[in-house]
Amino acid sequence: MKIAIASDHGGFRLKEQIKVYLAEQGYDSHDYGTMSEASVDYPDFALQVAEAVAGGTADLGIICCGTGIGVSIVANKVPGIRAAHCHDTFSARMAREHNDANVLTLGQRVLGPGLALEIVAAFLQGSYAGGRHACRVDKIKAIERKYCVQG
Ligand code: RB5
Repeated sequence: MKIAIASDHGGFRLKEQIKVYLAEQGYDSHDYGTMSEASVDYPDFALQVAEAVAGGTADLGIICCGTGIGVSIVANKVPGIRAAHCHDTFSARMAREHNDANVLTLGQRVLGPGLALEIVAAFLQGSYAGGRHACRVDKIKAIERKYCVQG
């Protein structure tokens, strides 16, 4: 499974910890930056992960910023992305099972690293259940088709 990962300066340390965790667990990850705690703009990095996932270069994405909110807003602007901003393992698992989420967003200033890595594990180990959830995800896709202008 290929994982695209990125952060801004506010999520840089957490992104580095997640990168180590992914390598230890045998995941193939690609880091889209940022590469230091120097101030950057989170849309530039969130967009790269969202495009990698939407374009099929990666199966799933993980994006960190200070709160996890800004990168979630950005990722969800990209057609095909269902980004879930999670603070707990139950939500992370449900995001995969019920919502077929393909991007996880996390806040370094909100979560301790131990919990954050457990959330990552729950997200990666979850799988889409389909069934009664499929028509709901289809409705999300229909909304996307209605309002998203490809540019
Ligand atoms: C950067 O200071 C901060 O605004 C950013 O990391 C994020 O929390 C935005 O949502």
